[in-house]
Amino acid sequence: MCGIIGYIGNRQATPILIGGLRKLEYRGYDSAGVSVWNETEGNSRVVRCRGKLAGLEEKLKAEPAVGTVGIGHTRWATHGRPSDQNSHPHKAGPISVIHNGIIENHLALRQELAGAGAKFSSETDTEIFAHLVEHALIAGAPDLTTAVRRSLQKVRGSFAFVVMSDKEPGTLVAAKNSSPLVIGLGDGENYVASDVTAILAETRKVIFIDEGEMVTVTRSGVAITDFEGNPKTREPKMITWSSVQAEKGGFKHYMLKEIHEQPRAVADTLVGRVDLENDDVSLDGLELDVANIKRIIFIACGTSYHASMVGEFLVEAMARIPVEVDLASEFRYRDPILGPGDLVVAVSQSGETLDTMEAIREAKKKGAKVLAISNVLESSIPRLADYAFYTHAGPEIGVASTKAFTTQLVAMALLAIHLGRRTGKLTKERARELLADLVALPSKMRDVVEGSAQIQAIARRYGAANGCLFLGRGAQYPIALEGALKLKEISYIHAEGYAAGEMKHGPIALIDEHLPVVVIAPRGPSYEKTISNLAEVRARQGKIIAIATRGDNDIGGHSDDVIIVPDTALELSPILTVLPLQLLSYYVADFKGTDIDQPRNLAKSVTVE
Ligand code: F6R
Repeated sequence: MCGIIGYIGNRQATPILIGGLRKLEYRGYDSAGVSVWNETEGNSRVVRCRGKLAGLEEKLKAEPAVGTVGIGHTRWATHGRPSDQNSHPHKAGPISVIHNGIIENHLALRQELAGAGAKFSSETDTEIFAHLVEHALIAGAPDLTTAVRRSLQKVRGSFAFVVMSDKEPGTLVAAKNSSPLVIGLGDGENYVASDVTAILAETRKVIFIDEGEMVTVTRSGVAITDFEGNPKTREPKMITWSSVQAEKGGFKHYMLKEIHEQPRAVADTLVGRVDLENDDVSLDGLELDVANIKRIIFIACGTSYHASMVGEFLVEAMARIPVEVDLASEFRYRDPILGPGDLVVAVSQSGETLDTMEAIREAKKKGAKVLAISNVLESSIPRLADYAFYTHAGPEIGVASTKAFTTQLVAMALLAIHLGRRTGKLTKERARELLADLVALPSKMRDVVEGSAQIQAIARRYGAANGCLFLGRGAQYPIALEGALKLKEISYIHAEGYAAGEMKHGPIALIDEHLPVVVIAPRGPSYEKTISNLAEVRARQGKIIAIATRGDNDIGGHSDDVIIVPDTALELSPILTVLPLQLLSYYVADFKGTDIDQPRNLAKSVTVE
């Protein structure tokens, strides 16, 4: 995920910027750059490089960026492939800009600015903001702060910007909407960053910027306002975390941090795709030949396979197109029957899983079209596919997938609504309800992840169990599989996920007073049946942890523990019900003291068969 740093003071900026960016490397990036204002030349020098910071440092040796004011960025590509040209900072006239997040209305703004004579040198949404600020100054904005404020009125989306002007080199202006931004305070010098980690080596005195605020930073002070210009006051805080803790945002493990990042990741994945005016979904301009899709086949591995199983449920329900789901590692070995009319959807968060890649090759050889759903721009799988659609979870460092999974579920919902509108099987009215529920998900997810104290207490009680069963029906069955996979992966406790109706066909033999059984039972058409399964477990003294919908006052009578999730459309409920399962696995593993972020024998991206 992108990283931001800015410095204004009396020391050389470049080493401070590079030092800060190095602290952000753990977040993952594909290119880096700095813009440093050179007092002698009266100009800022932009040096950018695709690849790692070492490459940027080499470039800086050849073309040093000298000066005491500067901004630096590590980019994790979302709009526009990783390249020198697309790296930040972006420059328009005297304006240099770095940006984290996504400008939702970038296409319309690009057209408008091009009409006004702007010349673009990158494919990014970010460059648009540099042009907007330049245009605001040309149109008479009296200073950089005003120009940034006027430009902010035009952009929609999630962002943290830092802007520097060659005409006003004693000032950095930053703004925040949904992407983190922090100011570091020094003596005669100040810092801006996306993450405390980037500045912790320089100062521990910080001010966290809130949503909808902008800040003007000079050598001697900071002035915070809202986007309308109303002043805001904020007391600085002293950071007492170690820098390792800071990289994890104060969380004990990356996995826990990533669990908590999910509301943000889901919001980012929705940005620019939900069209509330037309009750529709735009898949970033992809032109799938929907009328000629006779069948959809999802192929994936592991957690992505579970997301695909939810995808089957959603696409069949909303678009009424027949769907199959196949394990990528099995697919090509059974000589699958495929041809034109089949759309293969390859789901891979890393975009590098070898089994999935080989399955795509097989599908293409047989004449099927392939759509990749991935979290990593320009990774091998989207490049191999005919179409690519990206989740915007940001890099996931914990080996056990969490935010990549929930954003895959969001991608499935977006795909299903898009297809459903085009096959005519999803009414405008239903699409409107689903889209409203999708947009409301991040705050509901926040409710669940912030209520983790109860789950922690449950985990402590069951941490010594030898096994665990997860049960669910319909779209909750893949969530049962995912809950079991998470627990296995990080706590090394044997766990099984089962379709609740299958329990009596075998796994019921396992049930006794020592076996915790997690039953995923949100309200919906199969609620009553799931409750019957729950009663079967209880009759055999199994310990029941139920995941239920807010307002369900009955389930408590059948369960040892009930974890409540907010209500949402049935089709979207897996995005909420999986959260307690991730937290449960996490706290059980933490209780056992396993290596949560790098569990034994597992790799983040599986590039062997
Ligand atoms: C589990 C997990 C794995 C991956 C699987 C596929 O937490 O992360 O099961 O889902 O290895 O990886 P991708 O999605 O990168 O193809």
